[in-house]
Amino acid sequence: MNKTKSIYILGIESSCDDTSAAVICNGKILSNVVANQEIHTKYGGVVPELASRAHQQNIVPVIQQAIQQANIDKKDLHAIAFTRGPGLMGSLLVGTSFAKSLSLALDIPLIAVNHMQGHVLAHFIDDEDQQKPPFPFLCLTISGGHTQFVKITNYFDMEVLGETLDDAVGEAYDKSAKILGLPYPGGPLVDKYARLGNPKAFKFTKPKMDGLNFSFSGLKTGILYFIQKNVKENPNFIEENLNDICASIQHTIVEILFDKLKKAVKETGIKHVAIAGGVSANSEIRKVLKATESKYGWTTYIPKFQYTTDNAGMIAIVGYLKYLENNFSEEKTTATARLKVSEK
Ligand code: KG4
Ligand code: ZN
Repeated sequence: MNKTKSIYILGIESSCDDTSAAVICNGKILSNVVANQEIHTKYGGVVPELASRAHQQNIVPVIQQAIQQANIDKKDLHAIAFTRGPGLMGSLLVGTSFAKSLSLALDIPLIAVNHMQGHVLAHFIDDEDQQKPPFPFLCLTISGGHTQFVKITNYFDMEVLGETLDDAVGEAYDKSAKILGLPYPGGPLVDKYARLGNPKAFKFTKPKMDGLNFSFSGLKTGILYFIQKNVKENPNFIEENLNDICASIQHTIVEILFDKLKKAVKETGIKHVAIAGGVSANSEIRKVLKATESKYGWTTYIPKFQYTTDNAGMIAIVGYLKYLENNFSEEKTTATARLKVSEK
């Protein structure tokens, strides 16, 4: 009998403020452990120095837990995949150094992964609750550091069609939340309060941007001035209107994203549309994208929640796809803070 061999890959993610490790077997996730760093909450954003220290503390227990939950021994692993970039250098170095040491100790190959490709290729994790998109497809990658349209022609053939020229959409969420006095990361909280509010209660100006590029810094300033003006007149303005403010901010952001998404589909003629990245966890974005199926005849691909925000499952799937192509990295591979989605 020709039985398929089980290939076990360990994925390690440490690009920003989440330390994560996952074990994947032939494309199926066996474990995906994420340690969030609470330390940044009180600073209103990620403090790079504190992030790398927390990665140092978390990395060993997180990897041990991932291997244990997968019910394997580390000797069963066939390769180690790790995030090479983009991200915070001090954070990336922790995962990179650990991955290199483990690959040397176990004498198995090392696979460097581009974090942005990880967000996109998380759609190829073998999971009955997720449908895999066919090539070519469009992906709107929306996270704390990026907002971009990517045309994916093959696993490692990606082209950026447009992106933000200033803040990422996750930053727009987090900075708006900070103005409202909400803790970091504020995106999920704005989403939560927005569900209870009136999206048309307040109006914010949308930016005018050519082509498929985005801009979110003007919106942030507009929200700041709006809040300052209203709090001056009524010191309780935020608490009395929190749900409506969040709903109105979210409505504006979703309109900005979907105005461009419609344009991207029209220009490329590609109607297979995916979303990826932390902000793709947003309830309204997921709902509006799903509605385009009956409204415009698109086929949409929405990742499972656990594969939206930073996690090592998405790094492990890229590791597996590269393993199948014998696409391994040398021990001298280095971490890099800047890396385009089209780069290896
Ligand atoms: O992909 P990710 O974990 O990290 C980066 O690679 O940047 O994305 C984190 C971002 C944060 O800005 C966070 O506020 C946002 O994703 N986010 C959300 C939601 N969940 C996470 N934004 C809006 N609505 C959500 N439900
Ligand atoms: Zn990310």
